[in-house]
Amino acid sequence: MDNKRIIIALDGHSSCGKSTFAKAIAARLGYIFIDTGAMYRAVTLYALEHGAITSGIVDEARTEALLGEINIDFRFNAARGASDIYVNGDLVEGKIRTIEVSNCVSAVSSIGEVRRRLVALQQEMGRRKGVVMDGRDIGTVVFPDAELKIFMTAKAEVRAERRFKELTAKGDNVTFEEVYRNVVSRDKADTTRSISPLRKADDAIVLDNSHMSVEEQMAWFMERYNEAIKKL
Ligand code: DC
Repeated sequence: MDNKRIIIALDGHSSCGKSTFAKAIAARLGYIFIDTGAMYRAVTLYALEHGAITSGIVDEARTEALLGEINIDFRFNAARGASDIYVNGDLVEGKIRTIEVSNCVSAVSSIGEVRRRLVALQQEMGRRKGVVMDGRDIGTVVFPDAELKIFMTAKAEVRAERRFKELTAKGDNVTFEEVYRNVVSRDKADTTRSISPLRKADDAIVLDNSHMSVEEQMAWFMERYNEAIKKL
């Protein structure tokens, strides 16, 4: 059975439901889900809390200097059916999805040293296969040999609406326009940065879920998964 476990690389734009989808896939297959965006967010939060970001401006040298003291790990939370992210033993899951972190995370994730550290950690986490890893560069940089690569996207308005509902449900005081601007500016930053820009790997399959339910996405995925497993 072990030799039938693969790496599933799930890349795509911000707020298109990648994490929800990846979590559902992992639960269905008994795989480990790794949210690499949470790792970039955790570094951003740490930089915010340790004076490396002021008034939204990221000090690259200070952020790099902090990297040596940031220890990231995931611990499974049975109640959520997914892993929570910890920094130096502190649970930060609830603190990394604020608009403040979202506004700075693209700048932090464009720092070469940040990417080198996190990519190495991600490669180690996927070494034993049986993982669903969600991010921006998983199929292109982290696991270019992943057996199944999916590139997920949805229209910017649909993504902003989903993120807006999520944030307001949590009590975050944001406007739709603010969230929409963040989605559009992150798309631009993620696709145009010089190191590991977001792009579809040549062998990735596109999933546009603008008008698909979670069930429809799962049925679509299981067909591709079974094809990938047959090829082993
Ligand atoms: O998936 P997310 O929206 O939580 O990701 C947060 C940010 O982290 C996103 O704007 C881009 C960056 N990111 C990245 O550069 N590489 C990854 N593998 C994952 C996320």
